[in-house]
Amino acid sequence: MGKVIAIANQKGGVGKTTTAINLAASLAVLEKKVLIIDADPQANTTSGLNFSPESDQKRTLYEVMMGAAGIEGGIGIYDALIQTEIAGLHMVPSHINLVGAEIELLENENRESALKAALAPVKDDYDFIIIDCSPSLGLITVNCLTAADSVIIPVQPEFFALEGLGKLLQTIRLVQNGVNPDLTIEGFVVTMFDGRTKVHNQVLAELREHFKEMVFNSIIQRNIRLSEAPSHGKPIILYDVICNGTTNYLNLAKEVLERNGLTVEIAEEAE
Ligand SMILES: Nc1ncnc2c1ncn2[C@@H]1O[C@H](COP(=O)(O)OP(=O)(O)OP(=O)(O)O)[C@@H](O)[C@H]1O
Ligand SMILES: [Mg+2]
Repeated sequence: MGKVIAIANQKGGVGKTTTAINLAASLAVLEKKVLIIDADPQANTTSGLNFSPESDQKRTLYEVMMGAAGIEGGIGIYDALIQTEIAGLHMVPSHINLVGAEIELLENENRESALKAALAPVKDDYDFIIIDCSPSLGLITVNCLTAADSVIIPVQPEFFALEGLGKLLQTIRLVQNGVNPDLTIEGFVVTMFDGRTKVHNQVLAELREHFKEMVFNSIIQRNIRLSEAPSHGKPIILYDVICNGTTNYLNLAKEVLERNGLTVEIAEEAE
């Protein structure tokens, strides 16, 4: 049974998409079968993995969620799967039309669990299903948290980083108390870290003091290559195999495997 991990933080630009793409790609390189779901109407994961959100507007997450909710025009998830450039990494793309799902699902009896129902047929086909959430706590994100077994929370180490976490943790608690009692927090991952910056070290220390071992040991450093890779439609490991970004995300993937009692199956050659 594949583990479904949502990458969530309602704060914009904290590294959700970068983490979703590169964690998914790293897990696939470590011989796991991975599906990445782009659950953000901005479709950054979709374009970051070299698929034009404009090219096929009828086979995206929107249609898949409509299908699961029994709404006309919906499709099954198998009809939306795309093979990415990385063997072992499939994707369900997004499109701006996903914003419409918030409205269409509102009156639906499955409004919180459409994504969970949509993923059910493929859960056994993958080791991990990684969901890139949008910077909101709206109905689509609630669907992501309902479908997920756990959440990874990327934190950009800026002054206000911790303040926004309260609202996210409250939403996670609401989902736990309602539709998804088994939801856990996989961990907090610090992104865009610059060890020379005092505030970054302060935020990291505070986060560790507060959330203890829930903070991943692997830290994602600020790395220009990570910001360049999406414009080439590639995960970092295909764009620059020897940069820090590749090493950081491979380490995060290994930590996720270890936390889930899984072994790393290939040698450290990519480091
Ligand atoms: N470690 C990093 N080093 C340098 N740049 C990074 C790093 N991580 C992310 N970025 C850049 O920061 C910007 C925001 O990252 P990203 O798109 O992953 O955030 P997001 O949380 O998904 O944003 P949104 O909330 O809009 O969905 C992007 O331009 C991305 O390329
Ligand atoms: Mg994003």
